[in-house]
Amino acid sequence: MVDSKTPVLEWQGESNGYLRLLDQTLLPCETKSVECRTVEQVVEAIRSLRVRGAPAIGVAAAYGVVVGVREAASTERSKFDERLSLVIQQLAASRPTAVNLFWALERQRQVAERLPTASPQEVVAALLAEARVIEVEDRSMCAAIGRHGAELLTTGDTVLTHCNAGALATAGDGTALAVIYAAVASGKQIRVFADETRPLLQGARLTAWELSQRGVPVTVICDSMAATVMRQRKVQAVIVGADRIAANGDTANKIGTYSVACLAKMHGIPFYVAAPSSTFDLSLSHGDQIQIEERSAAEITHGFGRQTAPEGIDVYNPAFDVTPAELITAVITERGIIRQVNGDTVRTMLASDRDS
Ligand code: MRU
Repeated sequence: MVDSKTPVLEWQGESNGYLRLLDQTLLPCETKSVECRTVEQVVEAIRSLRVRGAPAIGVAAAYGVVVGVREAASTERSKFDERLSLVIQQLAASRPTAVNLFWALERQRQVAERLPTASPQEVVAALLAEARVIEVEDRSMCAAIGRHGAELLTTGDTVLTHCNAGALATAGDGTALAVIYAAVASGKQIRVFADETRPLLQGARLTAWELSQRGVPVTVICDSMAATVMRQRKVQAVIVGADRIAANGDTANKIGTYSVACLAKMHGIPFYVAAPSSTFDLSLSHGDQIQIEERSAAEITHGFGRQTAPEGIDVYNPAFDVTPAELITAVITERGIIRQVNGDTVRTMLASDRDS
């Protein structure tokens, strides 16, 4: 039975507790959780997309540090620090593109660094506290993104989205979908086209499920139908999430996002990216420097249990693409909206403490 009551992600208990994740690989048919009590289980959950979406990966990794280091809590501090580095390395190797993962791990590394004389037990407690802060912050970033973005939508609009940048992808209401939820909450009538999002169908399996659970009218289309619905003037805005945004605003998101951005440009439809500041990577000057994850051929040749391509055929399966900043009408962040997306506007927004 499908229900929306199972939390996407939650920590159970205190330092000796565990991370409970809604297993998103089973959606929309089953809502079952998995319990992660070891770092290996958290790494596996991230790698296999049981937990996915850039902000949710970051939050899961922050808790993953706690489950990974606590076995070393009774050792001496130098041994504990070695274990912490190893655990951070293991989690960092789970998926390469979403920068929120590395951002959260860096925050955890700094927690230990700030407590050089603390006992390992005290550091474990501080790491758990920091993971909780990261989770709470993520929730409020989603809410602020929703508030800012809602003003871009007019009642009666239909929004096209790609992949899932909703509650399933964050600790809160999502990024792209938070904008829709906030617009609906303010009384606007909004409909959604969800691209099915080949090859893993995050749009059909997750976005369509999530929106219908929340009572938002949603229509699933194959990715290849986006051009047609735009030409038919059935779409007034595109809103997507992001996995990593370079300093100049170039944005990595789920494979196919770039195609949607080109189509939106061609049809004069605004193309918005919604993302928290934890998704920006100012160390990269432009999007070509973003590492793009390549996933297994089986996702394309044997998707969801049935062989759909010849045995042994050559496959290319990049999980993300990069949309150049010039195709992005605006980036909706928790601090405000970046219009005319470029290095200057990105830097100015991230340096500000607007909103909140
Ligand atoms: O491979 P996934 O499902 O983790 O890809 C997710 C996306 O591309 C999302 O759009 C992105 O992480 C933003 S989630 C708020």
